[in-house]
Amino acid sequence: MEAYLLEFGNLLLRWLHVIAAIAWVGESIYFVMLDNGLRPPKDAECKKKGVYGEMWAVHGGGFYHNQKYATSPEKLPEDLHWSFWKSYVTWLSGFGLFTLLYLTKPSFYLVNANSPWEWAANMVGWQANVAALAFLALGWIVYNELCKRISPNMTRDGILSVAVAVMMVVVAYLSTHIFSGRAAFLLTGAVMATAMSANVFFWIIPGQRRMVKAMKAGETPNPIDGLRGKQRSVHNTYFTLPVVLLMLSNHYSFTYTHPQSWVIMTLFIFAGALIRQYFVLMHAGHIRPGYPIAGVALILIAIWFGAPSTSKTVEAPAAQSNVTATEQAGEAVPAVEGTTTGEVTLAQVETIMDNRCVQCHAVNPTQAGFAAAPLGVILDSAEQIKLQADRIKQVVASKYMPLGNMSGMTDDERAMIAAWNGQ
Ligand code: HEC
Repeated sequence: MEAYLLEFGNLLLRWLHVIAAIAWVGESIYFVMLDNGLRPPKDAECKKKGVYGEMWAVHGGGFYHNQKYATSPEKLPEDLHWSFWKSYVTWLSGFGLFTLLYLTKPSFYLVNANSPWEWAANMVGWQANVAALAFLALGWIVYNELCKRISPNMTRDGILSVAVAVMMVVVAYLSTHIFSGRAAFLLTGAVMATAMSANVFFWIIPGQRRMVKAMKAGETPNPIDGLRGKQRSVHNTYFTLPVVLLMLSNHYSFTYTHPQSWVIMTLFIFAGALIRQYFVLMHAGHIRPGYPIAGVALILIAIWFGAPSTSKTVEAPAAQSNVTATEQAGEAVPAVEGTTTGEVTLAQVETIMDNRCVQCHAVNPTQAGFAAAPLGVILDSAEQIKLQADRIKQVVASKYMPLGNMSGMTDDERAMIAAWNGQ
């Protein structure tokens, strides 16, 4: 019952998270489009009022006339529209989901038993939780310091962009080395998403409040607030596409189970930013196909780089991870022995699935904490197993499954799954 309620909570939070993110990212894309699509006003009256640019649009059966003021308009209306809740709700619901999914089961989902760094591989649950939270906090602190130190007056934003790009490569590298693949992709996306929301919370909104306050007091607002708001929202624009991709990558284990998954992640991040750049420039009236072509080229490199190797050799798996988990379970299941002829039969594969997988991958899992078959993958019949053959081979070869090697799968069994022809 408890597992069921947690799953339900997960669904509701995810629903909220996706809706809030659509609203926020949609609005952010809209405002970049609006800002870049502004044209000088034609009307002399408007020019006199201090209008710097305008845009006419037709939408939903009506005509809209947006105007942007170069400096402060003569008078501010009382009911000024602010945008921040969409950003905060996206972050809060995302953090809630992360807590529910990862922080409650860190030894399954956060710990990277195959990490080349011993301290990371040996982390226990609470240490992995602390590490994940510290990772998020440090991500924001480092990014914020880079902005403050490199381009405090927004005069060196080009160099700053390069520094932020380098920082993201480092984040991708560290996250995949410290945390398990899926968590690493999620946390790297979350570092960017946290920077985005924190930009809104710590800089953009307070800056705008100072501007409004000054204008209401009849003073000229400090231009640095406007410039900084712009700088941070430009960063947010380039983060949006990569963040969405990294969040979605969780459903595609071929992305994060690759041994050099940080390279794939980096390629995705730059591809997303390059494709976004095309649209930013397009709204300003410049068509630069080089950007999306470069973005697509990076994606093609990712496809090539991430392709499963065709040779069927299975490396010796690092079985160290969960010997303890199996021991705790107290009932180590004997391994299925390979046959000398090398032919792997479906019956043998079924036995392996029965011993190592169906405790979780059944309609009613027996593994504590699982209310339903994870991702709907059910492996309790020959038909289902054949149907999922490719996926099974992939997750077993990459050692992503059995999750945390809870069920103590052996190297021989992995080699047999690799040699099995899927029939
Ligand atoms: C301790 C529970 C557990 C065991 C044991 C387990 N799995 Fe999983 N499996 C999961 C969970 C949880 C997920 C979903 C993870 C995710 O969302 O990426 C999953 C996902 C999968 C997927 C889908 C991956 C994807 O992203 O497409 C496949 C295929 C799979 N498991 C196969 C196996 C096989 C084969 C075994 C046995 C060798 C196995 N699992 C053992 C818990 C388990």
